[in-house]
Amino acid sequence: MQASTLAALKELALQCARSAGELSLKRMKEPFTVEYKTSASDLVTAVDKEVEKHVISMILKRFPDHGILGEESTFAQDPAQFETLWVIDPIDGTTNYVHQQINFSVSIAVYHKGEGLVGVVYDPSRDELFYAVKGEGAYLNDRPLHLDRIVSLEEALLCTSVFWNKRAEQMGIDLIVKKLAGKVRGMRLLGSAALEMAYVAAGRLDGYVSLSLNAWDFGAGRILVEEAGGRVTTMTGTPLPYNEKSSVMACNPTFYEELQQYLHVAENTQTD
Ligand code: IPD
Ligand code: CA
Ligand code: CA
Ligand code: CA
Repeated sequence: MQASTLAALKELALQCARSAGELSLKRMKEPFTVEYKTSASDLVTAVDKEVEKHVISMILKRFPDHGILGEESTFAQDPAQFETLWVIDPIDGTTNYVHQQINFSVSIAVYHKGEGLVGVVYDPSRDELFYAVKGEGAYLNDRPLHLDRIVSLEEALLCTSVFWNKRAEQMGIDLIVKKLAGKVRGMRLLGSAALEMAYVAAGRLDGYVSLSLNAWDFGAGRILVEEAGGRVTTMTGTPLPYNEKSSVMACNPTFYEELQQYLHVAENTQTD
């Protein structure tokens, strides 16, 4: 890919993220409708849909032949048929948004032939723009991010998602997480996977683990963490997909191996 095309993708991704975040923040002060998708803990608002439509129209106006994989599915074509795919979550942390909390973000990533090129996570409540370009590093509001601190598992502040359900219990993962919680400095749960991964890239959190996330939850965060010098894989240590669901483990590289031992899902050997 030409440098000028990559620069254009980055500029548009940044513009989309800012514009989407500003729109969400503005709409938060007005009444909006909330629907259940599958349950009382799986919500979608009129704002999620409006913001996704807004971002898609900005992208297609500039790049009409690009594909889009967005959570609210307003773009219905098969993502696999596009060389360049935008993976977007208009509001990551909808539950926080509905409860008028500040921990929500917009997540926008660009993949080309399956390779992550640009990742942007914007937190409009704090006006914090996290972005990364493949091979060019990760930034927070133009400050470079480098995970160069040595952190042991005992010193790590970890984050996890709420997705510790019956399946996790059956697989023994809930026990692993309980054990892990006793080993590390602390566990946090902010409710926006994209923001949590951006915090790992920024060194505010040392690691993030989730049993199951959608591609739009981790599409940008993964590029951010990798470009900051962190490691991102599935919980079994295999490469993350770019267009489907996966478990996620993203962390400072210094305790990656040690953390893997605790999260050995496939063999499920760490429940003692
Ligand atoms: C959710 C958030 C949350 C994670 C859930 C996601 P949404 O995304 O990222 O932190 O635990 O698995 O579905 O629905 O608010 O965009
Ligand atoms: Ca959702
Ligand atoms: Ca999400
Ligand atoms: Ca969402």
